[in-house]
Amino acid sequence: MARKIVVTSGKGGVGKTSVLASLGICLANKGKNVLMIDGDVGLNNLDVVMGMESRVVYDMADVIDNKCHINQALLQEDGSSLYLLPSAHAYSNEKLSASSFRDLISRIENTFDFILIDCPAGIDGGFHRAVSCCDEALLVTTPHIPAIRDGDKVLSILRSYKLNAISLIVNRVRGDFVVTGKMMSGGEISNILRCPLIGVVPEDDAITIYSQLGRIGMNRSSSRDAIDMIACNIVENTYKLYDVTKGHRGLIGKFKRLMSAKY
Ligand SMILES: Nc1ncnc2c1ncn2[C@@H]1O[C@H](COP(=O)(O)OP(=O)(O)OP(=O)(O)O)[C@@H](O)[C@H]1O
Ligand SMILES: [Mg+2]
Repeated sequence: MARKIVVTSGKGGVGKTSVLASLGICLANKGKNVLMIDGDVGLNNLDVVMGMESRVVYDMADVIDNKCHINQALLQEDGSSLYLLPSAHAYSNEKLSASSFRDLISRIENTFDFILIDCPAGIDGGFHRAVSCCDEALLVTTPHIPAIRDGDKVLSILRSYKLNAISLIVNRVRGDFVVTGKMMSGGEISNILRCPLIGVVPEDDAITIYSQLGRIGMNRSSSRDAIDMIACNIVENTYKLYDVTKGHRGLIGKFKRLMSAKY
């Protein structure tokens, strides 16, 4: 049976979809059968960042309405063991009930090693629908106070579900800012939130560039390396972290900061 993992956040735009898409690719590259489900009805964009938007024929709503078999709605990433179930385009967020979402997942959970669910930001109905189907949660935050504060609220609700694990991913971390004390490190945020840190992802333009090209996570970059470590941690149940301060410490780091100093 698949490990069902919801990727969630308090504040919107912290990188849930970007992290989930790259994580799906990294897990599939490790030989795992992975299904990514876009649970963000209405504001879905997982198909876009994966470059699969134009291939969508049937979606989650068609499966629930018995217009097609679930296998007809699944999109396979070329030659890999990664699949995407597109969001319910014809549904409003309210129309997709938690029970039909759960039923849908129970029909396919034996086919995959991992089911990753992209959750809408915040704690509305879409959040409960996604979390109630899962047994693990990844909370994504950026190192900024509003995102951390909203993440804390989500954590307190996540803890009321009987999940096997809740782990933290701190995204968009600037190693140069961490070294100079201008930005909190992943470890500090993990301590504040009292949540185990499973990944730190650096600020990386490659995420924005490749998501616009529909090729997120498919090319090597610092963020991709960091997310690959998260995939290893998930598979091996470890907590090894990507060092975002590498290249920003010591004399060389100081020199680089002096050359690009604006702040
Ligand atoms: N590590 C990163 N470095 C640089 N840019 C990033 C990083 N992670 C995400 N982004 C950018 O941040 C923006 C928001 O990312 P994304 O859509 O993944 O967030 P989200 O949490 O899914 O948003 P929403 O709550 O709206 O669903 C995108 O433009 C993405 O390219
Ligand atoms: Mg998103």
